Amino acid sequence: MKKFYITTPIYYVNDQPHLGHAYTTVAADVLARYHRLLGEEVWFLTGTDEHGSKVAEAAEKAKMEPLKFCDLYSSKYKMLWDRLSVEYSDYIRTTEERHIDGVTKFMNILKEKDAIYEGKYEGLYCRGCEKFLTEKELVDGKCPDHQREPEHLSEKNYFFKLKDYQENVKKLVETNEILVEPARIKKELLGLLNQGLEDFSVSRESVKWGIPIPFNPGQVIYVWVEAVQNYITALGFGSKDEKKLKKFWPANVQLMAKDIIKFHAIYWPAMLLAAGIDVPREIFAHGFFTIDGQKMSKSLGNVIDPNDLIDKFGCDATRYLLLSQFPFGQDGDLKVDKFKEQYNAYLANGVGNLASRVLNMVEKYNDGKVPKRQPSEATDAWANIVKAHWEEKFLEKEKIFEYLESWARVMKRMDEEIEQIKPWELAKKGEQEKLERYLWAWLEVLRHLGWMIYPFMPDAAKKLLSKLGTYEREKSERFTQLTEWGRIKPGDKVNKGEALFPRI
Ligand code: MSP
Repeated sequence: MKKFYITTPIYYVNDQPHLGHAYTTVAADVLARYHRLLGEEVWFLTGTDEHGSKVAEAAEKAKMEPLKFCDLYSSKYKMLWDRLSVEYSDYIRTTEERHIDGVTKFMNILKEKDAIYEGKYEGLYCRGCEKFLTEKELVDGKCPDHQREPEHLSEKNYFFKLKDYQENVKKLVETNEILVEPARIKKELLGLLNQGLEDFSVSRESVKWGIPIPFNPGQVIYVWVEAVQNYITALGFGSKDEKKLKKFWPANVQLMAKDIIKFHAIYWPAMLLAAGIDVPREIFAHGFFTIDGQKMSKSLGNVIDPNDLIDKFGCDATRYLLLSQFPFGQDGDLKVDKFKEQYNAYLANGVGNLASRVLNMVEKYNDGKVPKRQPSEATDAWANIVKAHWEEKFLEKEKIFEYLESWARVMKRMDEEIEQIKPWELAKKGEQEKLERYLWAWLEVLRHLGWMIYPFMPDAAKKLLSKLGTYEREKSERFTQLTEWGRIKPGDKVNKGEALFPRI
C-alpha cells in the first residue's frame, strides 16, 4: 500500500490559535482526506511548539508554570481541530518525553558527526520571530513583523556547520529531489542558497525554557532547531520502536506558509543530511493572507478566532470559506465581511440548492426513487465531465483552488441544464422517459459532487450522499470505485430532508 505522510507546522502556544493556523491545518486535512480516498495509508501530523523565550514570557505574564500554560494553550489547538473536523493521525507536543528523547539523540548524532562546534554569538534577536535579524532586515530599527526593537544578544553558543551542507541542499532543491513548491518560492530559496549562508547557532545560553543541549546542560537547544525535529520524533525517532519512522519517513508533503520556508527547506534538510537521515520529498509553502491589507499576527492584535466563524457558519462552511478565497500557494487578502455573501452564493444557493432542487423533482416526479438508467448523448456527456474533473488529480498537486473552481463549474453546468431542460414542463407534457433520463444523470452527478466535496466538507458530503442513499454502501470504498460513472442504483429511495446549508 502506498504511504502518504503529511505534516503541518507545529504552532506556538504563546497565544490562542488564529485563522492562519486554521488555514494550513484545514488544507492539510483536505489533502489527507483525499489521499485516504485514494486508498493510501495516510499519516497526518500536527502539534504544538512549546519551548523558547516567547512561550516562557507568555506563561510568566499569565502567572502560570510554563508547562501548565502549554497544556492549556495546546488544548485550545486540539479543541479547535476537533471543531474543524481535522482528522490528524498524531499530535505532537515538544514538551513530551518522546520529543525530548528524540531531539537529544539527534543532537548527539550531530555532535558525533562533527557538524556542531562551539563559538560566540553576537547579534540582534527578535523574540517575536524567535530568530536573529540582520540590520538590513529592520525597518526604522524595528522588526517589521513584530513592530518591536530587537535585543542585542551576546553569548557563547554551539553552531551548526551549515556551510558544509548548503551546496548539497542546493543540489537537492535544484534537482527537485526536495520538491519546493510553488516554483516562485523555489526560486527565492535558490537565490538565498546562491548568496551563501552562515553557520547558525543551535543553542541559547540566556533561555531557560527548552531542551538542554546533551553535551552542555547549561544551554538549551534553540527552539527552531528542536521544533523541526518533531516531524521524526513523532514517528518514534530515537525510541525503541522506530517502525513508524521506517514506514512513513520521509514526509511526502510538509505544508506551511512561506514565512518559515527557510527553516524547513534549508536548515532542516541540512541537519538531516548531517545526521544521515533522508530529506523530505516535498515542501509546499502556501501564501500569507492579510486581513484588510495588514499582516495578521498575534503581536499586531488583528487576529480572528476561527471559533467565531465556526459558531456562525458551521465547521464545513468555515473550511470551505477559508480555502476558497484565493489560489493556494499565492498571497491573498481575507475579507471576512464577505463570508456571509459567499456562504449564501456558493453553499446555500449553490450546492445546497442544487441538491434540494434535484431531490425535490425526484420526489415529485418519480415517487422519490432513483429512475432507471437510460444512456443517451446528453447523459454520457456528464460522464465525461466528471471523469475530466477526477483525471486532473488536482489535489495530488495541491491545486486546491483549481479543484474548487472545477467543482463550481460542474454545479453551474447542472444548474444551467435544469433551466434549459425544464423538467417541470416535461412532466406537464407527460414526457416521463426523457424526464427520468435526466433525473438519473443529475442524481449520479450529485453523487460525484458528494465525493468531490468530501475532503473539504466531510459532514455535508455525508449528508448529501445519505440523501442519495449511497453513503452506507460507499463509505468504505475507495477512489477508483467511487469515481466510476453510473453507481447510483435505480429503484433506491432518495430523501430530500433538510437543507444542506440553510441560508444565513
Ligand atoms: N512554531 C513555528 C513553526 C515550527 S514548525 C517546526 C511557527 N509557529 S506559528 O504559530 O507562528 O505558525 C506559523 C504558521 O502558521 C505559518 O507557517 C502558517 O502555516 C500559519 N499562518 C500563520 N499566519 C498565517 C497567515 N496570515 N496566512 C497564512 N498562514 C498563516 O512559526
